[in-house]
Amino acid sequence: MAFSVPAKLEAELDELVTHYPQKRSASLMFLHALQEHFGHLPREAVEWTAVKLGLQPINVHELVTFYPMFRQEPLGRTQIKVCRTLSCAMAGSGELRGHFCGKLGLDPHHHGPQTTPDGKFTVEFVECLASCGTAPVVLVNDDLLEKCTVADCDRVLAQGR
Ligand code: FES
Repeated sequence: MAFSVPAKLEAELDELVTHYPQKRSASLMFLHALQEHFGHLPREAVEWTAVKLGLQPINVHELVTFYPMFRQEPLGRTQIKVCRTLSCAMAGSGELRGHFCGKLGLDPHHHGPQTTPDGKFTVEFVECLASCGTAPVVLVNDDLLEKCTVADCDRVLAQGR
């Protein structure tokens, strides 16, 4: 499918640029908007942003690879983020991620997000989700699961979209 930014979105971004003293200062806002629209940032989105802002593609690509909130690949419809920071790690979050990976046929030793071939689930470790007192914590799309158990994980998998 050909990459194409809708005219309405392009007009909004063109207007946004006028609020910055330099075009390049709008880079992060462009990337957030494009990721919101496309679900991730394909190479074409990086190149499009570079052209619009008078930059080289590498200037935009380095932002995409630096900030963990940007995605170069599409995510699954159910996104599972398992906290791996100290409180959660001590409360067993590693086992929870291992359980998800085992049930979904994903590599438990892989670094970074992994998506199932059917596009239903993405599983990844993340840093502190700011709910350390209720560890272990798992974020499933916008739902925070506190004191998460293996049974909770199985419920998430059963309800996956
Ligand atoms: S350590 Fe997991 S929420 Fe803070």
